[in-house]
Amino acid sequence: MKIYFCGTDFKAEPWLAALRAALPQAEIEVWRPGAPAGDYAVVWAPPQAFLDEQPQLKALFNLGAGVDALTQLTRPATTKLVRLDDAGMSVQMAEYVVHALIRHFREFDAYAADVAQGRWSYRKPHRREDFPVGIMGLGVLGQRVARAVQAFEFPLRGWSRSPKQVHGVRCYAGTEQLSEFLAESKVLVCLLPLTAQTQGILNRVTLAQLQAGGYLINVARGAHLVEEDLIALLDSGQLAGATLDVFRQEPLPAGHPFWRHPKITLTPHTAARTLRDESVAQIATKIARLERGEPIAGIVDPTKGY
Ligand SMILES: NC(=O)c1ccc[n+]([C@@H]2O[C@H](COP(=O)([O-])OP(=O)(O)OC[C@H]3O[C@@H](n4cnc5c(N)ncnc54)[C@H](OP(=O)(O)O)[C@@H]3O)[C@@H](O)[C@H]2O)c1
Repeated sequence: MKIYFCGTDFKAEPWLAALRAALPQAEIEVWRPGAPAGDYAVVWAPPQAFLDEQPQLKALFNLGAGVDALTQLTRPATTKLVRLDDAGMSVQMAEYVVHALIRHFREFDAYAADVAQGRWSYRKPHRREDFPVGIMGLGVLGQRVARAVQAFEFPLRGWSRSPKQVHGVRCYAGTEQLSEFLAESKVLVCLLPLTAQTQGILNRVTLAQLQAGGYLINVARGAHLVEEDLIALLDSGQLAGATLDVFRQEPLPAGHPFWRHPKITLTPHTAARTLRDESVAQIATKIARLERGEPIAGIVDPTKGY
């Protein structure tokens, strides 16, 4: 069996070593143009030329949960596209979102500023009931985040494409229930995949429907957000702030207004990192199952795009 590694942004050597250890029977190489036909590939944002040259691949294993970089490419219908299914990402995402939520809710930035000035000050505590958290996307990551937020007893709402029942979450589904979901949320967490339907979904119209003093946590993809709309809503006072991990252009360009905006906290696309050991173990198990003709989880539905 021949497996190619084609992972822009990932250092190849440690991945090759881990994949070879997990799949000792396979021949595993970095793909180069003109390489012979392979059986599987482990990829992150590969060039179109790779897919054009390797139309016989049985499956592409994406080194992330979001497959938007791949769905934009042309790929034969016979090549399955497989996303990482948690693989250690969901607990990181839960940490990140809970941290951002509590930092805002408990006003820890304001306390830090006071302490830096040598000021011993108190603020009136907010009421948890006044901070309903709305999670857009109730998939692998969204449901894990919901479980973590629940531990701190915030009211929880969730929005997905198909109707769902999630313990402790008031669930909404589809575009017809989006406005109701937003009006029932103050802190909005975006954990949607990036598709034609969700591109630009965080905009002036949707964000303005959050409860007064709304707060945005975008940990999905930069293209979900209309960046100038967020700035306008923050500057007008309609929104209280935002924590952003993802951006339309990454790295965020020098001089971008987000860098210095007083109401924005940002991180460099690090909310939930791809963990090598967990990812390789998952990919090796899935390849073994596919070779035995067994079903696997995490195959992207080409009609939905996630
Ligand atoms: N910042 C980071 O470090 C980082 C790391 C990993 C992933 N991510 C992002 O997180 C995203 C979510 O990952 P995941 O593993 O949780 O994905 P997932 O399991 O595929 O879940 C996606 C959820 O979004 C819902 N959804 C999709 N399209 C929708 C639409 N048009 N309207 C309403 N709901 C819609 C789905 O609804 P149904 O349940 O009805 O299908 C599902 O609940 C990834 O796509 C990626 O972009 C970011």
